Amino acid sequence: MGKITIAIDGYSSTGKSTIAKKLAQTLDYIYVDTGAMYRAVTLYAIRSGYIGKTEDIPALIQNLPAIQLQFVPNQDLGYSEMFLNDENVEREIRTMEVSGQVSKIAAIPEVRHKLVEMQQQMGNGGGLVMDGRDIGTVVFPNAELKIFMTASPDARATRRYKELLDRGEEVSFEEVLENVQKRDFIDSTRETSPLRKAEDAIEFDNSDMGLEEQFERIYDFAQRVIANQ
Ligand code: DC
Repeated sequence: MGKITIAIDGYSSTGKSTIAKKLAQTLDYIYVDTGAMYRAVTLYAIRSGYIGKTEDIPALIQNLPAIQLQFVPNQDLGYSEMFLNDENVEREIRTMEVSGQVSKIAAIPEVRHKLVEMQQQMGNGGGLVMDGRDIGTVVFPNAELKIFMTASPDARATRRYKELLDRGEEVSFEEVLENVQKRDFIDSTRETSPLRKAEDAIEFDNSDMGLEEQFERIYDFAQRVIANQ
C-alpha cells in the first residue's frame, strides 16, 4: 500500500488541525499545520514593527530571508511545535493579537510564495497530512485525498472561544466571532490563492458533529483511497 498526501482545507476554526493531527498519528504520517507558518511570520512582523501600530510591508518583504521556520517534534505532545528563528513560539502564535493580523500577512504574495515552496518540499514522497487554506488548490493540487471542512460561524466561534478561555486569554465571544468572520472574508476574497474548495475536494460540514464521528468518517475516506493505491 502506497503512502498518500492528504490535504485538509477550510475556514478558520473548523477543527481542521485536530482532525489532521489525529489522522497523521493514526496513519503514522507527518502532520504539517501551515496556518502556524503564516502565524509565525505574522509574529515576526509584529515584533519588528512591520505590522500593527506602524506598518511597513516592503520592509517585511525585504527581510523575509531572515525568517527561519522549523517544526520541532515534541514527543510528549505527540506533534511538532513551531519554532521561529530557533525560539519556540507555539503559544505566542495563537494569541488574538496574531489572529487579528494574520490574514493581512497571508495576503502578501511574496510571503505565500516563500511558504508554499517550503510546504511543497516537506511533502515530497507522500505520507503527509497538511492543513490550511490552499493545500488542495495550490500546494498539492495532485493530493490523493482532499477534504474541505466547513461549519457555521457560530459553531466555529464557540469552539475557538472555549480554546482561548482554556488558555487563559481574556476575550469576549463577540470579539472571537467577529475575528472568525473577518478572517474568513479576507481569506476568501484575497487575490493570491484565495480560500476556495478544490473541485475534487470532499466538502465536510461538521457543525453538528462530535470529534469521534468526524474522525471516523474522514479516516474511512483515507482508508479507501489508500487501499486503491
Ligand atoms: O489555520 P489558522 O487559523 O491557524 O490560519 C491562520 C491564518 O493563516 C488564516 O487566517 C489564513 C492563513 N492561512 C493561509 O492563508 N493559507 C494557509 N495555507 C494556511 C493559513
